[in-house]
Amino acid sequence: MPLRGFEPRVLELHDGTRVHVRPIVPEDEPLLIDAVAAMSERTVYFRFFSPLKRLPDALAHRLAVVDYHDRFALVGTTHKPAGKERIVGVARYDRAGNTDVAETAVAVVDEFQRRGLGSALLAILAKVARDHGIKTFTLIVLPENQQMLGLLRKMGWIHHAKLTGGVYEISFDLPDLP
Ligand SMILES: CC(C)(COP(=O)(O)OP(=O)(O)OC[C@H]1O[C@@H](n2cnc3c(N)ncnc32)[C@H](O)[C@@H]1OP(=O)(O)O)[C@@H](O)C(=O)NCCC(=O)NCCS
Repeated sequence: MPLRGFEPRVLELHDGTRVHVRPIVPEDEPLLIDAVAAMSERTVYFRFFSPLKRLPDALAHRLAVVDYHDRFALVGTTHKPAGKERIVGVARYDRAGNTDVAETAVAVVDEFQRRGLGSALLAILAKVARDHGIKTFTLIVLPENQQMLGLLRKMGWIHHAKLTGGVYEISFDLPDLP
């Protein structure tokens, strides 16, 4: 059953772990707080540019409530041994005003990193974004964030990078995806 215009799917990561991918829903607010709590300080800092000890409720609410057109987020989830769903990765975009450009962000819980989840979520999100008329993604990346720079390089997606005020402002045109 398509949920918010997106057909939920199962991804098999490089090590065989299965991750469910679906649009975020408002009920994910506490799961987002748990996901950030499970991230290292470094991962949190690279994502939020701030050493958050806990994702503030207001921010969690804003991140969990999207309109599935100008603001869209995909979550990758697994189930804890007790059976409770757990968010292990998130990729999102926010359209800039009334344009075909959107800022994107992605984060993966440390223990799930380097298994292909971040690049897969971003590739699926790019397709969703294209379907909603977005042509270009922008994002801010700290120069020491070699994992994100490596990911974008691997995907061939850095089209323009400008070092401004100590951060890279990166933009890339979304490929035409089938
Ligand atoms: C960036 C991030 C999302 C990558 O997620 P991931 O699931 O680990 O990424 P993938 O496994 O899909 O990696 C894809 C490619 O990225 C590159 N990469 C990922 N992690 C890397 C690392 N630690 N060092 C160097 N290159 C890395 C590699 O080329 C990798 O391909 P490979 O494993 O076949 O060599 C994750 O590291 C993260 O959450 N970082 C903190 C948040 C952040 O920086 N977000 C970006 C700003 S919004």
